[in-house]
Amino acid sequence: AGPLANGKTIALVGLMGAGKSSVGRRLADTLKLPFHDSDDEIEKAAGLSVSDIFSLHGEEEFRRVEQRVIERLITGKQQVLATGGGAFMNDQTRALLKEHAVTIWLSADLETLWRRVSRRDGRPLLKTENPKDRLRNLLETRKATYATADIVVESRDGPHMNAVRDIISALK
Ligand code: S3P
Repeated sequence: AGPLANGKTIALVGLMGAGKSSVGRRLADTLKLPFHDSDDEIEKAAGLSVSDIFSLHGEEEFRRVEQRVIERLITGKQQVLATGGGAFMNDQTRALLKEHAVTIWLSADLETLWRRVSRRDGRPLLKTENPKDRLRNLLETRKATYATADIVVESRDGPHMNAVRDIISALK
């Protein structure tokens, strides 16, 4: 067998609360690859939090910065990359991810996502009167696009190691 994922970067896509960052970090540790999280890299590059970028500059500007940051990351060394939930919805960013990475949709049902996102705030897209309805709506409108990822892995409750194992066996 050749190198895992043919030496390509492994990019996790999917909605907020799917566990992209936690699973990604463990996957990277297991595979001894570097790990990056696009939201963290955007915050570093901008010197502002994701929420502040949204409120000060708007979502469109956030998507432009996100695209640049993801382009820089995936044209570098093989790594595990956790992308922000909307990255794969942007045509240019999705094209970059599809060209340079093996893409994995970490999929979860609404209740699982909701349980996880409601533990932490600071998600600008959920700052609305009915955040759960908003999340349901994002899931409905985005899932067909997430489903175009190379591999789909179900993120269930319980140890993230289960998803890591599922990803590694799907990559083999
Ligand atoms: C977003 C998801 C967030 C972050 C931003 C927008 C989205 O990332 O990039 O708030 O459009 O779904 P996580 O998926 O890491 O929460």
